[in-house]
Amino acid sequence: MEPVELNADGRDLFASFECTIFRQRWTRDIENTIRERLADELRLDPTLSALGFIVEGQLAALIVWRPSAEDAETWEIALLATNRGFRRKGHYAERLKRELLRRAAAAGVLVVSSEVHRDNYAMLDLNTRLGGSMTSAGPDHLTCLIDPAVVPPPTYESSDATPRPRPQA
Ligand SMILES: CC(C)(COP(=O)(O)OP(=O)(O)OC[C@H]1O[C@@H](n2cnc3c(N)ncnc32)[C@H](O)[C@@H]1OP(=O)(O)O)[C@@H](O)C(=O)NCCC(=O)NCCS
Repeated sequence: MEPVELNADGRDLFASFECTIFRQRWTRDIENTIRERLADELRLDPTLSALGFIVEGQLAALIVWRPSAEDAETWEIALLATNRGFRRKGHYAERLKRELLRRAAAAGVLVVSSEVHRDNYAMLDLNTRLGGSMTSAGPDHLTCLIDPAVVPPPTYESSDATPRPRPQA
């Protein structure tokens, strides 16, 4: 299954997305953003891109990113989430992040960055798998930096996740 590009037309899919996890406060914020603001942000901000998996008419998972405003060689992930019923069921989040890293490498991007709550063990585990290095970003958060040219291969079967060499100048 291939991920699809998402835009403001996904408003109805976004409106029913559920990713809140008990005792993980940040997941409520992510859910609210997806439900209430994402469609407008995608409509109004041409720098924002989004990919998702749509399974049986539901948005199973999505990733949203933009090029950094400060650094042309960096892309910043704004959101990555998997809908409640699809967690740990098809490596949806990992596949989306790998696809984003593949696109970043193809575009000559040197760093893909994201911010992760220090208690988000699921995301920290996933980032570690993808070769991420974590640095402090204040009391609650870590910044994860990944070089898209050197992503370790997946442990699950996939035909699309081979690390790609950085394009030559
Ligand atoms: C984090 C999140 C996106 C993972 O989505 P997912 O589709 O279930 O993750 P995947 O199936 O792709 O998991 C890939 C790997 O990540 C790690 N991982 C994912 N969920 C995990 C969990 N609950 N506990 C431990 N490791 C986990 C594992 O290494 C996993 O590989 P494995 O299943 O082969 O062991 C999902 O839990 C979520 O939406 N959380 C709420 C939103 C959020 O916190 N987003 C991140 C913001 S920075």
